Amino acid sequence: MREDGDVLRLASGSPGETIRIGAAVGSALEAGDIVALIGDLGTGKTCITSGIARGLGVPEAYYITSPTFTLINEYPGRIPLYHLDMYRLAGSADLDDMGVEEYVYGSGVMVIEWAEKMADRLPRNAVRITLEHDGEEKRKIEISAEFDKRTSIRKALEEGGFR
Ligand SMILES: Nc1ncnc2c1ncn2[C@@H]1O[C@H](COP(=O)(O)OP(=O)(O)OP(=O)(O)O)[C@@H](O)[C@H]1O
Ligand SMILES: [Mg+2]
Repeated sequence: MREDGDVLRLASGSPGETIRIGAAVGSALEAGDIVALIGDLGTGKTCITSGIARGLGVPEAYYITSPTFTLINEYPGRIPLYHLDMYRLAGSADLDDMGVEEYVYGSGVMVIEWAEKMADRLPRNAVRITLEHDGEEKRKIEISAEFDKRTSIRKALEEGGFR
């Protein structure tokens, strides 16, 4: 892990490692946090979300999949997880009728795939995670967040063995 300005840079070598990175991030999150996931198809946005779920204390019995028939999947945990996927939506205006803002100001953590599609509505304090392909099983993962949040995430990653 490298810290570069307000960005933490990591490399993942496997889906399992991405899940462990997500779990560390999740353990550092608090109710009300928003995580914006940005990255191409198959970079691991859903994979890292399943790790974040573990870090939030969502029981293992819940298998994390992208919401398809509903806009948001909701999972119970130490902190509830709301999982939103913007992939099929044209843009943030599509959120208007869906009560998304209620979740955003709610008591859980909101994780958003394809968050760039609602860039105009992301709060400044959102945790931004970008994922990039770097070969078959390798991914570059960059996490940016405001100072306090970044510090807790960095500590959790260090405790998780990412140094
Ligand atoms: N290091 C890695 N981290 C995460 N996923 C990996 C890694 N290496 C290989 N993979 C594979 O890449 C795929 C990632 O799929 P995932 O559904 O998480 O991507 P996604 O970014 O959510 O895609 P989509 O844009 O379609 O929602 C999985 O098949 C996973 O096994
Ligand atoms: Mg996905």
